[in-house]
Amino acid sequence: MSEETQAGDGQAGSVATAKDTLSVTDNRTGKTYEVDITDGTVRAMDFRQMKVDEDDFGLMTYDPAFTNTASTRSAITYIDGDKGILEYRGYPIEQLAEQSTYLEVAYLLVHGELPTQAQLDQWAHDITIHTFVHENVKEFMGGFRHDAHPMGMLLGSVGALSTFYPDANEIKDPENRAIQTIRLIAKMPTLAAFAYRHTMGMPYVYPDNDLEYPGNFLNMMYKMTELKYEPDPRLERALDILFILHADHEQNCSTNAVRSVGSSQVDPYSAVAAGVAALYGPLHGGANEAVLRMLRRIEVKDRIPGFIEGVKSGDERLMGFGHRVYKNYDPRAKIIKQAADDVFEVTGVNPLLEIALELEKIALEDDYFVSRKLYPNVDFYSGLIYEALGLPVAMFPVMFAIPRTSGWVAQWLELVTDSEQKIARPRQIYTGDRTRDYVAIGSRS
Ligand code: SDX
Repeated sequence: MSEETQAGDGQAGSVATAKDTLSVTDNRTGKTYEVDITDGTVRAMDFRQMKVDEDDFGLMTYDPAFTNTASTRSAITYIDGDKGILEYRGYPIEQLAEQSTYLEVAYLLVHGELPTQAQLDQWAHDITIHTFVHENVKEFMGGFRHDAHPMGMLLGSVGALSTFYPDANEIKDPENRAIQTIRLIAKMPTLAAFAYRHTMGMPYVYPDNDLEYPGNFLNMMYKMTELKYEPDPRLERALDILFILHADHEQNCSTNAVRSVGSSQVDPYSAVAAGVAALYGPLHGGANEAVLRMLRRIEVKDRIPGFIEGVKSGDERLMGFGHRVYKNYDPRAKIIKQAADDVFEVTGVNPLLEIALELEKIALEDDYFVSRKLYPNVDFYSGLIYEALGLPVAMFPVMFAIPRTSGWVAQWLELVTDSEQKIARPRQIYTGDRTRDYVAIGSRS
């Protein structure tokens, strides 16, 4: 807590000792305040006491897009944007991508520790037996147009799941939270695959409980007339790595949406639907779709210099580059680039890879990008893998939403059990008119 102290009058006082406080002098009143510094932050509420008179509401902090505002304490994901560090519960993403599986990482994010073999077996079993969705889901999935964007279909169907589990709003019940956590992680691939099959005009494929999580997703996406779909282990592993890399990323736009909506104590399906909606945007999860459309538009290497000029003039944006936090190479982009080689062994090299590599090379040498610390992010190369897997571009953000569900749920669980959190309700700086008398319509100009 901070306290108001009398403004120093410049007289030599006791030698200041280094304290974790901020001394703030309000030059409007000459008053000085001591504001505590905790974990590298000051509490915005400590500025409310700074007033010019008793009628004054007090100072607020103003931070559009929260570029320098911490909204929560969290122990889930650590990022150091300058050093390009990403850790889930303290484990470096490079080690998890190399040695773990997505389901194990999902357990780690949700429970905070790597599981024992028995815990992992139980977790995998619980998720496997909850991959089915209510048959009625097919009814409203079928109501979408044939060319509906699968992200819009996912958004609608995740929110609709809340109506199939009305008890999910009992968010204070740990057991209820646990089963909804399992259901969300288990059913997201099913909803995603159903959306894809709908857009392809193909029958839905039910989950196959003999398959692992990524392989089962490939089964629900690509099974045709064969009795038993057999995923290519190399593609299955590449998908598992992509899922690991996309699982969580601290307080990104979609996680902030999940937390903000979840703070109203709504059920987790509705909160996750808000996350899907945020991830849909081209500046966020929709960027992988935008990258492919950009690469296809550039089409040949000769057009890259002209495109780069377009970026500098503001007519274009280099999708898949830049990040609010990473001012260094996104560590996930490096790993995805390696995974792409494994996939291309099976599918053949994506011809757009050459464009992407040349675009990256030129951008990393160009001062416009270097001066703005714009490096490839997680979305720059992932789309090349999804395209090589035969996915339509519109499915790319859906591929992001599937694994990010475990991060969203882990963040939601942390929110609902955090005694410091309450309903999110930001303030504003009012810039509109005040106290105007109503004018009859006949008298309006
Ligand atoms: C994800 O937050 C997360 O963690 C997100 C994510 C996750 O895992 O959840 O990592 C996933 O969303 C990755 C980002 C995917 N989006 C894109 O690739 C879209 C292209 N990139 C951007 O639009 C942009 O870089 C953002 C949105 C990612 C970050 O934007 P910021 O932090 O608000 O930065 P900014 O827009 O203020 O840009 C700073 C400067 C500006 O130039 P000036 O106005 O100073 O001249 O850099 C420029 C921008 O114009 N700039 C770009 C650029 N990104 C920023 N210029 C060209 N191409 C770009 N991609």
